[in-house]
Amino acid sequence: MWPPVPQVEYIIMALKRTKIVDAFTGELEGQQVCVKGWVRTRRGNKHIQFIALNDGSTIHNLQVVVALDQFSEEQLKPITTGSSLCVVGTLVASQGKGQSYEVQAQEIEVYGTADPDEYPLQKKGHTLEFLREKAHLRMRTNTFGAVFRIRHHLAFAIHKFFNDKGFFYLNTPLITSSDAEGAGEMFQVTTLNVNDMPRTEDGKIDYTKDFFGKMTSLTVSGQLEGELGATSLGAIYTFGPTFRAEHSNTPRHLAEFWMIEPEMAFYDINDNMDLAEEFIKYCVKYALDHCKDDIEFLNKMYDNTLIDRLNGILKDEFVRLTYTEGIKILEESGAKFEFPVKWGVDLQSEHERYLVEKHFKRPVILTDYPKDIKAFYMKQNDDGKTVRAMDVLFPQIGEIIGGSEREASYDKLLNRINELHIPMKDMWWYLDTRRFGTVPHSGFGLGFERLVLFVTGMANIRDVIPFPRTPNNCEF
Ligand code: 4AD
Ligand code: MG
Repeated sequence: MWPPVPQVEYIIMALKRTKIVDAFTGELEGQQVCVKGWVRTRRGNKHIQFIALNDGSTIHNLQVVVALDQFSEEQLKPITTGSSLCVVGTLVASQGKGQSYEVQAQEIEVYGTADPDEYPLQKKGHTLEFLREKAHLRMRTNTFGAVFRIRHHLAFAIHKFFNDKGFFYLNTPLITSSDAEGAGEMFQVTTLNVNDMPRTEDGKIDYTKDFFGKMTSLTVSGQLEGELGATSLGAIYTFGPTFRAEHSNTPRHLAEFWMIEPEMAFYDINDNMDLAEEFIKYCVKYALDHCKDDIEFLNKMYDNTLIDRLNGILKDEFVRLTYTEGIKILEESGAKFEFPVKWGVDLQSEHERYLVEKHFKRPVILTDYPKDIKAFYMKQNDDGKTVRAMDVLFPQIGEIIGGSEREASYDKLLNRINELHIPMKDMWWYLDTRRFGTVPHSGFGLGFERLVLFVTGMANIRDVIPFPRTPNNCEF
C-alpha cells in the first residue's frame, strides 16, 4: 500500500458529517465541522498547505487549510490527488478569491491513499475519450460529476412533471416476447446452452425448452404495454431502460438507453404535441433552476452557447409542420446532404438539423410521415399514404422525441398488421385494446440520454450515461 497510513489518535471524529454542498450555505460559519471527500489537488508551501476536497455533492471544492506547525510531514505525505479524507476543523469565510468558505483543519484522517504513479486522474485536463476508457473513475471529475448530477435532476423532474399532472408511473416488462417497433433489433434472452441448442425434428431451435417456453428478448420500447395502461388508467408514463442491437455507431445512439413513454387515452395528435412541448420545456427549465452551478461549469468549459440555447428553447414556440412540407424545404434549400432527400425517405440527422438549426432556428415538430417508414400502430391518415406521427427535432440532437396518435380502429390496425406480416399470435393482447372499448389515444417516447445530451451540451451520448453500451463495448 502506498504510503502506509499513519496510525493517529483521533479525538473529535465523532462529529456528524457535513456535506460540502451544505458547508457553502453559510449557516455553519464559525462552527466546527466534519467534512469527508476525495482530494482534488494539494498545493502550498512550508508553512501552509491547501487541499481542495470534493465529495460529489457539488461541483465546488471545499478548501482545507492546513497549518504545518500542527501536522507532521508523515501525516500529510499520503494526502495526494485521489486520496480520501475526513477533516475536522472550523468553517470560516475564505480569504482567498474563488471560494466563499474554507475549513481550518484541526484533525485529518486519511481513509485511503491513491498512489500518484498509478492513479489515472492524477493530472488535470484529460480528454473525454481518455476518460471514457476510465469510466469506473470518471465520475470523480468535475465534468462527469456535473453531468450525472444534472442527469439525476432531470430524472426527478420527469417524475414530478407527470405526477403533478396525474399520470401514473407504469412499469412495463424488460423481458418480452413481442417486438414493439417491429424493427427486429432485439437482444435475445435465453437460458438455453448456446453451444448445444436443443433442436426440433426439423432442425429448428426448440424454444419450448427455454426458460419461458418461447423465444424472448429485451424490450425495445414499453409502448405497447403502456397502451394497455393508458386504456385503463387514462394516462400513464413509463421510465425505464430499453435495448436495441442497432449497429449505429454514432454520437447519438446507445444499445442500452433509457426512455420515457407517456401514453394518454382521449388525446389526439395535437394534444400529444402540446404535451411533448410542455414536457420538454419543463425539464429544461427545471435543470436551469436546479443545476445552475453545474450548467454554468459546462457552459464555461465546453460550450459557451449552452445557456443561451437552453433559454432559447423556453422562449420559442416549436414549429409544427408536416413531413411533406419539411421535404419541400430541404429540396429547395440547395444544401448538399450526404444522404439525398426526396419524399418517402427516412430523414437523417443532417436533414433534421438543417430544418432546426439553419432554416427555422428553433425546435420543429414534424408530423404526418409516410406510413412505410413508421411503425404499424400509428393512426392512418385519409390520404392512404401518411400516418399521424410526430417527431420532435432539436438543435444539436436531431430527433429527441418520437410519437404518434395511435390507430384506434380494429380493422385498420389489423389490415396494417397483415400487410406487414406481423405474426398475429404475438399481437392478440394488443388488438384487444381496439376490440373492447377502443378510444382515440396518443403517446410518445423521449430518449432520456438525448435530453441529458441537450441539457449538458455534451457532444457524445456515451458521456451522459454512466456505463455506455455500444457495439463492441460492454465494460463492467
Ligand atoms: O422513435 P422511437 O424509436 O419511438 C419509440 O420507441 C416509440 N415506441 C415511442 C412511443 O411512441 N412511445 O424512440 C423514441 C426516442 C427517440 O426519439 C430517441 O430520442 C430515443 O428514443 N432513441 C434512442 N436514444 C439513444 N440510443 C438509441 N439507439 C435510440 N433509439 C431511439
Ligand atoms: Mg423515431
